[in-house]
Amino acid sequence: MDVHEAVKTRRSVREYLKTDVSNLEIAEILEAGRWAPSGLNNQPWKFMVVRGEKKDAFAKHTKYGRIITGAPVCIAVFYDVESGYDRDKDMQSIGACIQNMLLAIHSIGLGAVWLGEIKNQHAAVEKELDVKHELMAVIALGWPTKGTQGDAERKEMQDLVV
Ligand SMILES: Cc1cc2nc3c(=O)[nH]c(=O)nc-3n(C[C@H](O)[C@H](O)[C@H](O)COP(=O)(O)O)c2cc1C
Repeated sequence: MDVHEAVKTRRSVREYLKTDVSNLEIAEILEAGRWAPSGLNNQPWKFMVVRGEKKDAFAKHTKYGRIITGAPVCIAVFYDVESGYDRDKDMQSIGACIQNMLLAIHSIGLGAVWLGEIKNQHAAVEKELDVKHELMAVIALGWPTKGTQGDAERKEMQDLVV
């Protein structure tokens, strides 16, 4: 898929078929994240791939838990503070990393949603999983059910360019 087309046709997908996502597909998605740009090329991210009941550790700490439970697999993205050099720029890098993965997911024909609300309870998730990195987001993904895509509204260009 052409990058421009991928950027414009990607939409958040919040309902998935029961069909599993293969490790090969997951590897391709993580590879897209790995190649994201980062300040000083510090690559301040860590990934965790979670399936089955283990997803409960995420689901119970967000009001969007139903989406996580319904997804065959989730990719949690953490901030590796030890690799960090500037929190603002590290956050920007992690955003680029997540978007890379969302575009890879879409180009494969899978669907996903970036779940950020779970950040409100990041400490509880980290404690439960005994992870030393800071939770940034959970990407819930799977094969999309038909007709679950939301509106794709965006602000007008003249309201964006200053
Ligand atoms: C930082 C960030 C946090 C988000 N958190 C959530 C979330 O917690 N739950 C959710 O359903 N969608 C979440 N989203 C998805 C947005 O709602 C979605 O991207 C936006 O409405 C635009 O729709 P689109 O992705 O279909 O283009 C998040 C997106 C971003 C970038």
